[in-house]
Amino acid sequence: SCPSLVLRSGAKMPQVGLGTWKAGPGVVASVVEEALRAGYRHLDCACDYGNEHEVGQGIKAAIDAGVCKREDIFVTSKLWNTYHHKEHVRPACERTLKDLGLDYIDLYLIHFPISLKFVPFEKRYPPEWIHDPEAANPKMEVDPVPLSETWAAMEELVDAGLVKDIGVSNFNCQLLADLLSYARIKPSVNQVELHPYLTQEFLVRFCKENGVVVTGYSPFGALSYASIGMAKEEESVLNNEVIGKIGEKHGKSPAQVSLRWACQRGYTVVPKSANIDRLKQNLNVFDFELSQEEMEAISGLNRNRRYNDPGVFTELAFNTFYPIHN
Ligand code: A2P
Repeated sequence: SCPSLVLRSGAKMPQVGLGTWKAGPGVVASVVEEALRAGYRHLDCACDYGNEHEVGQGIKAAIDAGVCKREDIFVTSKLWNTYHHKEHVRPACERTLKDLGLDYIDLYLIHFPISLKFVPFEKRYPPEWIHDPEAANPKMEVDPVPLSETWAAMEELVDAGLVKDIGVSNFNCQLLADLLSYARIKPSVNQVELHPYLTQEFLVRFCKENGVVVTGYSPFGALSYASIGMAKEEESVLNNEVIGKIGEKHGKSPAQVSLRWACQRGYTVVPKSANIDRLKQNLNVFDFELSQEEMEAISGLNRNRRYNDPGVFTELAFNTFYPIHN
């Protein structure tokens, strides 16, 4: 079964969770239900994925069928960039709760350290925006809000019992160090892009030293981005020869090797799959162990290749907050 890492609140976060980004409309609910049936107990969601309502249907179906109880599952969601002003944080969280059909979220993250101009909920949320992102956020206008303001509102969500733990996503060391200096309730998690081509050794160590659990997204590198033209499929770590050979030795797929490597590095991962066999495969990484040499060989593949570096937020909003090297 899947081990967990313990967060500041004492809550346990299963190491492998199901990612729901780009889990398309119409299939998400059944994927979530299947995943819960297959033993997943950790779901990674976000307002921005435009499918929380369907994720909620999947959770409800599984609970109604007696597959699991609410308290057995760990659900993460994320505050979107257009809701950083203090008066928008709680309504955004409440909207997510309503969509997911839950009365609390286990972990709520600031999705990006980027504040964009407010967009009314009815525009931001499906059905409109998923088909037309421009309609949801016409100019991607930056509207600076101090992170301290947003964080204080996040802390109030914990006080109010809406969320158990709070954290951040796409934060570098500098931003995290600053946040840690004043946070009344410290961030429990930092979710960032991590795979063998982007190992972020320093950031991972910094988080560990500061009691911040790391979650790695895009654990296979490139694949999700290939589907939207941001990367080439050949760039996927799943095509890497070194990883392939290590997998053969253990009778595991390249995907399983990548996930196992992440788990042994001591963080949580959220691979996405809409395919039941691959879903099961991705959870089945706890019956083998990579040797020290294998771990090092995989980490040695690092090329500081970040796939999630889109034109979507413009250079202004996105490129500047990441360190070039870690
Ligand atoms: P699919 O949904 O058809 O399984 P990431 O989480 O790194 O962004 O990767 C998600 C992508 O990887 C999706 O395109 C998904 O496709 C694919 N994928 C997920 N699990 C596996 C696996 N075990 N083997 C190969 N591809 C996988």
